[in-house]
Amino acid sequence: MTSLYDEVQVTPSDVPTRRVTITVNGEKRTVDVEPRLLLVHLIRQGLKLTGTHSGCDTTSCGACTVLVDGRPVKSCTMLAVQADGREVETVEGLATASELHPVQEGFKQEHGLQCGFCTPGMMLTAKALLERNPNPTEDDVRWALSGNLCRCTGYQNIVKAVLWAADKMRAQQN
Ligand code: FES
Ligand code: FES
Repeated sequence: MTSLYDEVQVTPSDVPTRRVTITVNGEKRTVDVEPRLLLVHLIRQGLKLTGTHSGCDTTSCGACTVLVDGRPVKSCTMLAVQADGREVETVEGLATASELHPVQEGFKQEHGLQCGFCTPGMMLTAKALLERNPNPTEDDVRWALSGNLCRCTGYQNIVKAVLWAADKMRAQQN
């Protein structure tokens, strides 16, 4: 069991904490957290999974998107205690030891990123889309990604990357 406060060297002894157990990228993690702690801060500072980015902290940009029980969630909008007992997937969980997830490959093949700040959130949102709709139209992709902002790419290549991944995932199933 890990104390978040030990990891970030903050020990507010007078602040009550709550113990939560969250399955993160397939691994059960038990931590003591302040009830006010945001999920994004638990992920980044407590669990050291810094692939999840924090861009605005106001539910606008989508950089902090993770999957909670398979659904995209802006983790700056959710408290860590609300994730108790749930499954959380971050960008670190996408690839296996030997290969990239098709969505990651698509971003590589179609040049879907520049600075990469928005990319983890984009990829997780795309993964959730392709799991519920394996054959999306361009409009479907644009709609699904409408809560994720990119300041670099103009979106064109991001959309192409997701459609590339959809093709690959369908081919893998045939
Ligand atoms: S940091 Fe969460 S939406 Fe921008
Ligand atoms: S690649 Fe830079 S914000 Fe999207």
